[in-house]
Amino acid sequence: MTIISNVGNIDGSRCDLTIDDGNSSFIDGGKLLKLPGLIDPHVHFRVPGMEHKEDWLTGSKAAFYGGYTTVFDMPNTVPATNTYQRLLDKHKLIDQQIASSGFPLKYKLFFGADRNNFHQIHKVKDYIIGIKVFMGSSTGDLLLDDESSLHAIYAIARAFNLIIALHAEDEDFINTNAKKYANQDDFKYHSIIRAPEAAAIAVKQVIELSRLYNVTSYILHVSTKVEIDLIRKAKEDGVRVFAETCAHYLFLDESMYGGLLGRLKMNPPIRSKEDQQYLWQALNDGVIDTIASDHAPHTLAEKDQPLGKCPSGVPGVETTVPLLITAYREGRVSLARIIELTYTNAQRIFNLPANDDYVLVNIEDYRVLTDAMVNTKVKWSPYSGMSLTGYPEYVYTNSKLFELKRQ
Ligand code: DOR
Ligand code: ZN
Repeated sequence: MTIISNVGNIDGSRCDLTIDDGNSSFIDGGKLLKLPGLIDPHVHFRVPGMEHKEDWLTGSKAAFYGGYTTVFDMPNTVPATNTYQRLLDKHKLIDQQIASSGFPLKYKLFFGADRNNFHQIHKVKDYIIGIKVFMGSSTGDLLLDDESSLHAIYAIARAFNLIIALHAEDEDFINTNAKKYANQDDFKYHSIIRAPEAAAIAVKQVIELSRLYNVTSYILHVSTKVEIDLIRKAKEDGVRVFAETCAHYLFLDESMYGGLLGRLKMNPPIRSKEDQQYLWQALNDGVIDTIASDHAPHTLAEKDQPLGKCPSGVPGVETTVPLLITAYREGRVSLARIIELTYTNAQRIFNLPANDDYVLVNIEDYRVLTDAMVNTKVKWSPYSGMSLTGYPEYVYTNSKLFELKRQ
């Protein structure tokens, strides 16, 4: 039996935990806080096709070290996860990799929609967490930006009772601006090209489609004031929309391009401090439902290229929880709200069964994050140099306690 004594609960009470594992060890849990096994509803673990950036050997370990026992993976792989066969093949690869990693991560897959694969959806509907629609292009070749295809996918989602998760940025707006600023090389132009209006145009369209078809839309990586205002109003009107934001929009902003350069390039782009402040408000008043990492690793060699060649995306599955716990220690968000944003709301929106997983994070130990500390294959973090607390030290899942050792 392993006993972990005096562990803090979210409500301020304390508890002793016992694990029936045949050992006889005792752990002083005085600095530990017990959280549920968290859900990251938005990661890109890159299998198949981009295994030099991540795979499920490194990804499942990184997720555990981040405090997650469940992740939802995106379909912009190579090839894209957009047919029944590719979905099966992907499941097989992931299951093999998780079995050999030793970190029994639970996962669900989004299915990528494109103009030519609507007939596949009835075959995959029982195996997927939802349909992913890229209204604006990003990493990979998935794109569904024309009005009639969008109507078609909503009609299908209605028929099969599926959730649609949307990358809501308007492709035409982005393309027009990309031409206009084609000669610019300062990274800040990434945020100018993909201005808040690109998101606003797409989010308006999503709300109208959700209203028309009575389909649940899960709007990914909400990053601007204008999106928040639109979503708040839609929710008041009873439209079935949910809003996800990501840690990078809460803890990084466009004033940091000078130092981070390509390491700050992601889609949607990093925003202003004003947008960031508005997101914090929406996070605390309930308009934002979930916080994801949008863990989208690219190697440093790829990221250290000039603007035009630098791919979009940052790793984050290991840093969301420490960032949020550090914010809690600074009085910016309550523990109860963190749990809703990283667990309860995703579980409810996507209808996941309950489990008895838990994660123990150390809320006393402040450490400066370094690239060497992260387990993602790409070995870097945009948060390196920040002093954070709340790093996970133990994960309990599958009736087993996993000790997370850090250098
Ligand atoms: O920054 C991003 N990176 N945004 C996306 O939409 C995709 C992601 C990736 O897969 O690299
Ligand atoms: Zn993403």
